[in-house]
Formats: sequence, C-alpha cells, structure tokens
Amino acid sequence: MATTLKIRSPGEAVARIAYLSSDTIISVQPAQSIDSEFSSHLYRYAARNDKSIVAGTENGVPEIQTVRSNADPLLSVFTPIRNGKLVSVTTTSSILVASVPHLYRLAALPVVIHVSLHPAHYADYSSITAIRNTGFTFLQSETLQEAQDIALTAHALAIKSGKGVIHFFDALSSAEDNHIPFEDAEVVKEILNLGAVKAFQSSRIGGTSIYADDGRVATITEGVTQTTPMTGVEGASSLAVETIASELPSKASSVGSLKSERESSVESKATISSATTVENATVRPISSDDVYNFVSAIWAQLKQTVGREYTPFQYSGPSNAEDAVFIFGSDVGAFAKAIDAAKPGEIYANVGVVTVRLYRPWLGSKLIATIPKSIKRVAVLEQIRRKTTKWGPLLLDLLTTLKASPGGGVETIVGHQLGYITADTVGQALRGVFQNLKSEKPFQNLEVGNPHGPESSQVQDFSQPKVESAYMKILDQIFGNRLYLANAIGKENAGISPELASTPEFGFGSLLARKEHRQKFIREVQTAVASSNTAIPEELKSLLSNWAASVEDDKKANELADQIIAKLEASGSPLSKQLLSNQGLFRKESRWLVGSDAWAYDLGNSGVHHVIASGENINTLIIDSTPYSERSAADAARRKKDIGLYAMNYGNAYVASVAVYSSYTQVLQAMIEADQFDGPSVVVAYLPYFKETDSPLTVLQETKKAVDLGYWPLYRWNPQNEARSEPNFSLDSERIKNELKDFLARDNHLTLLMKSHPEFSSHLSEDYGSEVRALQKRNAKDAYAQLLEGLFGAPLTILFASDGGNAESLAKRLGNRGKARGLKTIVMAMEDYPIEDLPTEENIVILSSTAGQGEFPQNGRAFWDAIKDNTELDLASVNYSIFALGDSHYWPRKQDKHYYNKPAKDLDRIMSNLGAKRLADIGLGDDQDPDAYQTGYQTWEPLIWQALGVDKVEGLPEEPPPITNEDIKIESNFLRGTIEEGLKDTTTAAISASDQQLTKFHGTYMQDDRDLRDERKAQGLEPAYSFMIRCRLPGGVSTPKQWIQMDDISNSFGNETMKLTTRQTFQFHGVVKHNLKSAMKAINQALMTTIAACGDVNRNVMCSSLPTASKYHKEVYSWSKKISDHLLPATTAYHEIWLKDENDKKTQIAGNAVQDFEPLYGPTYLPRKFKITIAIPPHNDTDVYAHDIGLIAIKGRDGNLAGFNLLAGGGMGVTHNNKKTYPRTGSMLGYVAKEQVHIACEKVMLVQRDHGDRKNRKHARLKYTIDDMGVDVFRGKVEEIWGQKFDKAKPFKFQSNIDTFGWQKDETGLNHFTYFIENGRIEDTADFQMKTGLREIAKVHKGEFRLTGNQHLILSNVADADMPKMKQLMAKYKLDNYQFSGLRLSSSACVAFPTCGLAMAESERYLPELITKLEGVIEENGLRQESIVMRMTGCPNGCARPWLAEVAFVGKAFGAYNMYLGGGYHGQRLNKLYRSSIKEDEILEIMKPLLKRYSVERQEGEHFGDFVIRIGMIKPTTEGKTFHDDVAEEESDEE
Ligand SMILES: Cc1cc2nc3c(=O)[nH]c(=O)nc-3n(C[C@H](O)[C@H](O)[C@H](O)COP(=O)(O)O)c2cc1C
Ligand code: SF4
Repeated sequence: MATTLKIRSPGEAVARIAYLSSDTIISVQPAQSIDSEFSSHLYRYAARNDKSIVAGTENGVPEIQTVRSNADPLLSVFTPIRNGKLVSVTTTSSILVASVPHLYRLAALPVVIHVSLHPAHYADYSSITAIRNTGFTFLQSETLQEAQDIALTAHALAIKSGKGVIHFFDALSSAEDNHIPFEDAEVVKEILNLGAVKAFQSSRIGGTSIYADDGRVATITEGVTQTTPMTGVEGASSLAVETIASELPSKASSVGSLKSERESSVESKATISSATTVENATVRPISSDDVYNFVSAIWAQLKQTVGREYTPFQYSGPSNAEDAVFIFGSDVGAFAKAIDAAKPGEIYANVGVVTVRLYRPWLGSKLIATIPKSIKRVAVLEQIRRKTTKWGPLLLDLLTTLKASPGGGVETIVGHQLGYITADTVGQALRGVFQNLKSEKPFQNLEVGNPHGPESSQVQDFSQPKVESAYMKILDQIFGNRLYLANAIGKENAGISPELASTPEFGFGSLLARKEHRQKFIREVQTAVASSNTAIPEELKSLLSNWAASVEDDKKANELADQIIAKLEASGSPLSKQLLSNQGLFRKESRWLVGSDAWAYDLGNSGVHHVIASGENINTLIIDSTPYSERSAADAARRKKDIGLYAMNYGNAYVASVAVYSSYTQVLQAMIEADQFDGPSVVVAYLPYFKETDSPLTVLQETKKAVDLGYWPLYRWNPQNEARSEPNFSLDSERIKNELKDFLARDNHLTLLMKSHPEFSSHLSEDYGSEVRALQKRNAKDAYAQLLEGLFGAPLTILFASDGGNAESLAKRLGNRGKARGLKTIVMAMEDYPIEDLPTEENIVILSSTAGQGEFPQNGRAFWDAIKDNTELDLASVNYSIFALGDSHYWPRKQDKHYYNKPAKDLDRIMSNLGAKRLADIGLGDDQDPDAYQTGYQTWEPLIWQALGVDKVEGLPEEPPPITNEDIKIESNFLRGTIEEGLKDTTTAAISASDQQLTKFHGTYMQDDRDLRDERKAQGLEPAYSFMIRCRLPGGVSTPKQWIQMDDISNSFGNETMKLTTRQTFQFHGVVKHNLKSAMKAINQALMTTIAACGDVNRNVMCSSLPTASKYHKEVYSWSKKISDHLLPATTAYHEIWLKDENDKKTQIAGNAVQDFEPLYGPTYLPRKFKITIAIPPHNDTDVYAHDIGLIAIKGRDGNLAGFNLLAGGGMGVTHNNKKTYPRTGSMLGYVAKEQVHIACEKVMLVQRDHGDRKNRKHARLKYTIDDMGVDVFRGKVEEIWGQKFDKAKPFKFQSNIDTFGWQKDETGLNHFTYFIENGRIEDTADFQMKTGLREIAKVHKGEFRLTGNQHLILSNVADADMPKMKQLMAKYKLDNYQFSGLRLSSSACVAFPTCGLAMAESERYLPELITKLEGVIEENGLRQESIVMRMTGCPNGCARPWLAEVAFVGKAFGAYNMYLGGGYHGQRLNKLYRSSIKEDEILEIMKPLLKRYSVERQEGEHFGDFVIRIGMIKPTTEGKTFHDDVAEEESDEE
C-alpha cells in the first residue's frame, strides 16, 4: 500500500506528538494573533476535535493556552501541572533565558518544553547552554524524523522520570528532509505508558505559590514492580490521521546512518525491566543514571516498534578514526555529507562526527563508550553566538569528560566557534578546523564560518498588546483625521504577512509611497484648476488653488480641506468623485510609523536606521514594553540597544522618550513637537507590562520605578533648537542613566542642562546601584564602631524592624538603657546592618514587629532575605535574643493563627540553626495584652540584663521622656521650627522629623512614594520624598479662574493630577521639595491659602453645596467663610516662610524671637485636629455628624437663614484593635442664632483646647473629651465661657448624604451640573480627558465651581444662554456622563497608596475595581439605580468617613480589609464590624448573595444599611461608645 508522507516540518511533527501526549499545551506565540511554527497545527487539531491520547478533558481535546512570548509564558505551567495535568510547552528559544527562575522550579515537574531554536535563520545554541544547569533533561533532535521520535521520547521520559524535559531543535537543519509519515498512535500509546500517565493525572502536587519553594524533588521508588500496559485507555481515539502509514518506517534516523558506507557505533544496552518485586522499597531522588536508564528503555522500545535507534551520543565515521568533530550546532548533515564526500587525501577524510542527543544530564561515561578508542583529537564546534564565558560550555563538558577521566585516549581537545555554514563553505571550514586541530599549538576559540549569519531576513518577534492602544489613542486624539499610520496593527495590508507589515522597512516604504502619492495628487489638482475647460465652479476653483499653494501648511491645508471636501461632496461631478476618492490627501497628514521594542535588537540594520538616515519627515513611535524589573534581571549581554540614544547620536532627528503612565502631558508635547519637526522624529514610548491582562495599576507602578530610577528618563531632544539658541535637550524627569549622561557630556549639553535645572545636578552626577547600598551599610556600621571606641563593657548590638515605630522606639530605649548599664550598644535598623558581620557579634538582640500577613516590616526584609537560606554563616560564637511585636488577633481566623509574630519566630529558629546561643528565649509582645506589647516586654528585658550580667547595676540615671508633638509645638516658635533651613538643604529631598509635624500646620505633609520604596532602597537611594499640599477653601467654592490656576499648579509643580477631597478642597500630590515654595506662592496668588489646612488647629470649614437653592446657599456659605476666618491662627510664620521675598524682612525682636501671639490657640495650639462642617437639610452631603462641630442650618420663617443646631464631638479616627478608640457621631448641644455661631464654635474649641488630652494623641480628639466629661458637663463649660446658653435644638430632617448628579435648576433660574468625579481624582487618561475638559470649561464659565463633600464637582450658576456652549464642551470631553450604577455614584475612597504614609491597603486605586466586580450582581438583581453608600479607606484614620457608610471596607493589610455594615443612609448612624481581614474573594462571597437578598427581601423604601440590621446580620451601633460591642464576628481564641 502506498504511503502518503504527510509531515513536512519539525514544528508539525512535534505539535502532533505534544497534542497526543498532553492535557494542556502552552502555546507560546509572538502575539495572540500571530502563529508560531507549532500553533497553527495545534489549533487545526483542536478545531477538528481530534482526541488526545492522554487528555482527561471531557471531550478528550487537550486545552491549548496561548501566551505571548514576552508575557512570562512559563508561569502558566504551574497551576495545571500541580493539578495533575500533563503539560507541554511549544516555544521558540527566545523565552528561555528570561524564564530561568521558573525553569529551576519546573525541572522537578514532568513538563515537556519543545523548543525551536531561534533566530530561525541562524540558530543560537546559547539559549540552551545558558539554561543547561536548571535541572531539566535536555534532548536534541536534528532531522525531521528525529523531531517526531525525540518529541515522543521527551513526553515518555517526563512521565517516567517525573522531571522536566526540554526537547530542542533547529528547524532549518531539517528543512530539506523528505516528508515523513504520521506517527503511529499505537506506538505513541505504548511508549507513553498509560499506566504512568493515569497515576500522574490522579496525583496533586500541591503548592499554590510559585514563589514558595514546595521543596518538590522527583523521586524514584526502588524495588517495586512497574507495569506497562500495552493497550490504550478505552474509548480514547487519537489524532485524526488522513492516511495511516503502513510502510515500515525507515531505519535511518541520525545523520551518520544516512550514509550506508559509514559504520555506526551504538552502545546498546538492555532495557531495564523491573519485573521483579523487591520487598523493601526505598524512595530516593532521581539520578542521572536513572534518567539514562529510562531513556534507554524508551529508545529500546522505539527500536523494537519502529526500528529506529537512538543513543545519548551519536558517533558516525570509521571505527579507527584518530580525529573527530563534536558538533553542537545547526546542519550537522552538511558536515557529515562533506566528510563522506572527502577525497582520500583531504585533511578531513576519515574523521568521525560526534553529536549529542541527550545533552543533560551529561553522561560522560557514555560518551567515552561511544567514541572509538582510536580517537586522539577532538575539535569541538559550538554555535554559541552570545558568548558569556571564555570557553564554550560544550568544550568544558568535553574537557572534563575526556581529559579528566581515566581510560580516555583523547589527547587534544580544541574548541571552535561555529558560525554560519553553507554547503559551499563547509569544506573550507572543515579544512580550517582540522588544520588547526592537527597543528602543533592549536588555537582555542577559532571562528569557523560566518559569525554574523546570513544577510537576509530581519524578522523579529512582533507583538502588540492591548494596553499599547493608549499611545494610539493619544495619536488619534492629537491628529484626528490628519493621522496616517503606515503600519497600523490590525489594518489589512493586502497580501502581506503581519511579520513583514510590522517591519520598519515596510512601513517606511509605505510612507514614502504615501508621500509620492500626495505629490501626484497635488499635481492633479493643479492641472484641474489650470485647465480652463473643466467645469469647476469658481468658488471651488479658488479654494483648490488656495489649497495647492499651502499644501505643506498643516493648519491652512486642513482648514481648506474641510471646506473643499464639503463642496466636492455636494457637487457630485466625476471630477469631484475622483478627488474625493483620495480625500485624505487633501490634509497635511501627520505620518507615523509604529513599532515595538523588537526593533531595537538589530538597530544598525533595521528600518529605524533607514528612516533616520533618510532625513525624511517621518515620525516613528516605538513602544517598549519590557518591564524595568524584568530587564534588570535579564542577561546584560542581551540588552536591547537604546533607540533614543542611537537616534540622538545620528544628529538630524527629533527624539523624545516618553511614558504615558508617568507624564501624560509630556507625551502630548513630544508627539506634537515630533509632528512639527521637519525631519525624522523618533518617539520612544514606555508601557511596561508582564501580561496583556495586567491592570493599569501594575503598568503604572512599573513605569514609575523605571522613570524614577533613570532607567527610562523622560526627555525631548530637538537638534534644531541650537539655531534658536535654545538647548537641544530638555529633561522632563529627574534622573538619567549613565549612557545618556555620557552622551550629553560630550557636547556640553550636560552643562547647559545643569545650568537650567540646578536642582537636578545632585541626581545627574550621582551614580547608583547596590554597591552604594552596601557601602552605606558599611559606613553606618563603621561610624558606630568609631563612636564606641574607648568605651568599656560588653558589646550589645540591637537591631529593629518596624513599620509603625513601636519596635523602633523600644529598640532605641533598650539601647539607652544598655548604655546606662555600661554596655557598648549599637542600635540600627535591620536593613542597615551588613549581614556579613553577624558571625563576629558577641551579643545581638533583635526586635521585630509583624507586618502584612506574618511578614517582616519593610526595613527587615532585606536582612531576612539574606539570612533565611544562608548556610554559610557560622554563628557559633554569637549570643542572641529576639523580641517579637505582633497582634494575636490581627488575622482572626483559626487557620491564620500562625501569622502571630511569625517573622520574629522564624528568625529565632534560623539564628539557632546557624549555631547562635540564646541569651533569653524569644519574647512575645501582643497588642491584645492589657498593655499591648509592653506586657510581654516587661518580662523579657530583665532577662537580657541578667544574661549579660548587668541586672544589678545601681544608680541608673533617669530616662529622658520621649519628645512629643506638644514639645515640638512649644519649641517651634509659633510653627517656624527649622522649616526655612530645611527647604534650603539640597542634599536631601526630605525635611527633619519635627519640621514634618510643623509643616502640617502650613497645609503640607511630607510623604514618600510607596510604590518606589523597595526599589530605591535596593539602589541605595533615599525614598522618593515629595509633599502633599492641601488648600483651604471654605465651603468648597472656587472661581473658574482659580480652577485654572489650580490646574496650572498641578501641572507645573505636582504630579499632573488634583484630588478633590472629602473635605471640599484641592489637594496636590508629588510636589518635590524644591517646588514647594513656588507651589505655595502660586496658591496664594490664586487667592487661596493652605494655612491650617492640616495640623492641630481648626481646618477647612465645609458647607453643603446645595445646587438647587443658590440664594440660600450663598447666605449659609458666607458663614462657613466667617467661621473659617475667625478661627484662623495668627502666626506670621506662614507668610514669612512661604510668601515673603528677599526684601520682605520681618522685624526680629532681640533674641531672635519673632513676636507672635495666638489669641485663640496659644503656643501649643490644640491637642489634636479640629473640623467644622455645615449641612443644609435635607442634604447631609457634608456628613454633619462626623466632625468635631457639625452645624445644621435652620431656615427662618422668612426663608432666610436663622441659625444653626450645633453638634459637637463627631470624629472618625480609630486604631485597629484598640477598643479605646472609636468613631463617634456628634452630640446635640442645641440651637444658636447665626450672628453668634462663630463665637459658639470658638468656645467649643477653647474648651477642647483646655480639656483635651495632650498626653495621648490617640485620645485627644474632642469626641473623647466629651465622652469622658459627659455631654451636659461639656455643654455647661462651653456656656460658661461663652456667657450664653444654647437654645433647644430646632427640628430638621435629612434625606441623604450623597450628591444628585446631572443638571438641576435653582430658584433663580440658573443651572447647575454635578459631575461624577470618581473618588475626586482629576486627571487625564488616554480614554478620558477629564482634566483638559474641565480646564476648557473653566476658561469660558462665568459662574463658579463647587466641590462637594463626596469628592464630586458642581458647575454652578450657568445662565440659560450659556447652556449650549457648556453642553457642547461637556459632550466633547465626555464630561456629561453620569450613567453609572447607583453603587458607584454613592461610593467614595480616600487616597491611600502610593502617597499616604499611613495606608495599609489600596483604596482610591482599588475601590473602582471592586465596584466593577459587584456591578454584574447589581444589574442582575435590578439594583442599578439603587443608591447604596459604600466607602473605602486605606487605614482606620477614616478620611473618607467609612464608619458612616452602609457598607465600608477599611484597610488592614495589603489586599485585606475589615468589613463594616449597617451605617445609616444619610450619615446618622455608625456601622459595625462584620468581618475582619478579608480579601477580595471573601468580600465578593459575602456581597454577592447579600445584594441579591436585598433585592428580594427589602421593604418599600428600605435602605441597605437598615436592611442588614433588620435581617439580623448586624446589630445597630447606637453611639460611638458601643461601636465595638456585639460585633458579628466570633473570634476563636483556641490555638
Ligand atoms: C498592616 C499590619 C499587618 C499586621 N499583621 C500582623 C500579623 O500578621 N501578625 C501579627 O502578629 N501582628 C500583625 N500586626 C500587628 C503589629 O505587628 C503590631 O501592631 C506591632 O506592635 C506594630 O509595631 P511597629 O509599629 O513597630 O510596626 C500587623 C499590623 C499592621 C499595621
Ligand atoms: S484613611 Fe488612612 S490611608 Fe486613607 S488617606 Fe486617610 S490616613 Fe491615608
């Protein structure tokens, strides 16, 4: 019967075997839409529903997962394989090196990775040698037939050995092979061993994290009978085979045996069959010999069934040869052919060829057994293009095997680098090799063949993830219908493959063609206009001739284009139709070529180079998606070239480096400049991602790291600037990498830059890196050592790790006490300690708190990482003890109990394992104890003194009390401190600790970017400090002009965004120190201030925004201003520090004290912050119960404001697990007429000033003063100093505390629109130009803006006449949209990460995501329109007033929240803890059914917060003091 030979390529042969032998195939592809050499086949089989032999899926079709090659593909292997799935991977070699961390772990799992070596036209074997020590078994195939057989071997071997197998091949080697028959399914079944398959599939390997080493080792159980079922699993039919091969497959498989006259020496060995049962089975890890035995058994089986023979090494040639080549590279066949054809006298006649089939484990003894004893010299040819070591890896293998082992007769082994060889050059190459080999002193590392490989094809992996559309959108946004994309992805380039279409050459060509096309079109138009006999109306004619005269002027040409097109469309004449068919050419297009970073690998030859060299006016946008962290881990030798630098060096191109997630504005600027630049432009754009599904948050964080550390600087380079005497280079970020610095230094650009930005100089000239960090540690420790010199007494080193400061202050106190006892004490953070010194310590004590979920605090992690797996430290002469700070209830679930003080306990164990002796047993501090961690500490500390023999020291000095905020205030000279001096210090971006407290009174906080902390620490840099500035804006009313000024400030000095806060004001983030003063000045120039926006003073006074009653609003609002002004601190320090210029000298009184006087506050101000708000019933949109003073406006009979009901003692701040802290709703003191209200407020504040707790800041708010005193006593005290009495409170009614979105008309006929500003963040994104839009609106708006207490914004007082304009602008910027779910509209979140230093969990960046996840259920249950007040904060400080929400989430640790239920809908009732420390899955598990239940069971008009109480889910909280009572969660105390 005739055989139809079907398989044409090794990719196909391998795909078929993988398909038959896997449950899951990870198909690694350049992009989702671009096939690999395997994937098209895989999808074909799956589409036909072909069955796999092993797949345990319902339909027997294996699962195929497509993963993009730069999306960390091997990560996808872990989950399925741990669940008993047989997993294989089909990929090119390009992913291997980057996957090394995974490979190490995967080696102990039976995964098969089929690797086609790349680049396809000239394979580089270094990607294999680079990973040779990962523990995988490596098999190589060379011919098409081998690809099939070795693929099968790989699967069988993985199953049998339980270890990972990599099968690699160079597809080009077999390109000329004859097609081969399909595999025989029966053979595949037999060889795979279905019994073993079943056994694996029913196992679960466990381990959920790829980071935690599950310690898995592939093992073998010796002495147990292995059964090998010969028949397949019932019902499993396999891959459809159109024609079954019937001919006995050819015997020939390996290169050598192709030639009949060549002998083949194969060391054959009997199959190991373990048919005997041995009683005592033992389990041990798989050894190299085991692998060899398994693979031999498989090959023996193959030989039996298909007649082809394989061995770990293959020798072909005469059995008495003296010389041999060992080839590790492509096209062994060409060498073999040439040797076969050698004439007798040829130097390479009669030599042998050795190749390797089983590359790892490397079985040296098998190699010795394989090659004839007569061999004396071996030439090793390695096709390793990216050499990292001097000697090739294979040469080293051979040297150790053949030279070091006895019995080998080989005398000479010479390594050669194998380049690209063709049939024409192979003879010459061999001659060179053997001449060298046989010479007296052969050269090592001689190059053979062409090291650069073939000239042609530069095809690179090309992929475009979805996220990259951000840049496309921006291009589209800027240039609109003027944009011409040469190689738009997804655009059909008829008949051209995506690979080709994605090359720069193609795009370049198409752009040139487009240009010519337009020239032709212009001529056509000119001809038409000139010829008198064409019937063109005069008007059109003049338009056309105007146009023809200004074709290169984008503005004019485009304006005319619009008119012309409209006219042509109306006309309908044949000429019009003809012109219209090319209407795009009327516009002066902005021509762009868009590509990926793949273009960077071969810059000199790439099209990018052509574009730049051409000098054509073409813009290139290159998107780089390699995450910084991935790159920094990658092999330095493989680093991409820097396209930006390349282009700048070229001289004639405009170059910009941008990152949309770092500065949106800079992207716009660069693209516009690129377009305007007459010549080539290159914009390199950063958009790092690991997976296509990465959330914007990940992309944002990666971008920030890269930009911040100078890996991806933001800059613009315009070589035409010089002519205008402007600098060519502008730096838009703060740090640049060395290469760029060198470039700039060359032509004096750096000096210019430093001149224009003196503040950058410290960064620019700074080198960074981990060496710096090591040096810093050394210096810190040495400085200490010097201090201690000359002191006597035993040394005691005290290390601490602390996030919140408890462990740190304990450690410092311990240090002082040690010193007092005569010990030489050092106190340091764990991260600052050079760990190599540990063995030399005599006594070391470590205090560590617990963070995250049983983790070390940030400043303990590096130490822990260095010690945890360390086996080298010998601590035999070290005495140590550990004190742990934690909270036994932080993670209340029983199964989470082990997180209690976990890091300290772990460290205690490790230190002991390393031989250190305990001074005292570990001490355990627990927040739950009566005195919190102090309870445990009190018994631990004396044990240390005892152990060190200093417990009986007499006459210890009294300890100085710790410095408190009260001390700082007193010492500050009315809030001056050393702020001025600190601002001038350019050596650090920070200010001193006490000034950090004081600047709060001036409205600014120092923060650091928490996304960057770890990375910067690792680089030896101080944290990325910047300042938050908060304005004071009574009632939240701003003029349009002020809005624009605020917008400017955020762009010039901040991070290009603004936050509208829950207290109705503007907040800026990311203002660096050297911009702080300018920003403050600018705010004051806008007639706003920041004084007393934070700090222990009365802060911004809020007022309901009331869009429906403008007259009344105006009246009430004026009182918020009056109260605010009345309670303003009087210190002139604010003016002095921020506003005065050089000449504005304040008279200083003798002794350098400025005469200041605070009539209301006195020198120590208030014990704690103080907040006042006004609500106008029925709107409680300012949460009147949540502030120290809540004023409820009361209307008189005449419809005007009469006075206020005054509530006192509301407050939100709480500390987790500290029941002495609680949120509180204000208590009613009574009614006060409006004329007296500011005085009443003042008196309440004064009673608090004098009676508030100044010892304990956690107990200092007015709410505790009132509860401690009782409401009536408190009221009495206020009335006493006021000299008046409160009236009985007047009746009032609230309906809600949320905003009403959309248009509303007020009583005067003016219009108001409430925008939905999610969580108050004003920013531009590629999708939504909110910030720009609002700015445009502010430019023309004649009314005012009102910020609401829910972080939204009202466009107020729009006259009917102005409505069309406003509506049009709003539509243009999509600002008219408020069609969101009621849940989203009623939600709010605080800032939290990355700027808030107190955040324990994400808030603003996460709440929108959580809501999205709930909206499905909301829709399903018809709750879309229902308003449910949901709030989230990153910590219990409660900035978004979570305790009053119907449902709230308060951050507990990264990704974990406490959940509260039962708040009152209009902010009148506190909620209560429902569950603590839960994560997203649990939140959804609770919320989804609950929402459903609410939709079904709620009563008419019943709000969610009332509902959960009625159904008994939660008890109502009646007042602050009962907040912690009757919580729903049962905590178990059992261990
Ligand atoms: C975000 C966060 C997570 C915590 N996780 C744990 C934990 O997993 N186990 C534990 O015992 N204590 C935990 N705690 C409690 C702290 O370790 C404890 O409050 C300690 O006193 C804080 O000390 P520090 O101020 O030095 O950081 C956690 C505290 C916070 C704020
Ligand atoms: S609630 Fe906490 S995390 Fe959120 S902004 Fe306020 S202090 Fe920061």
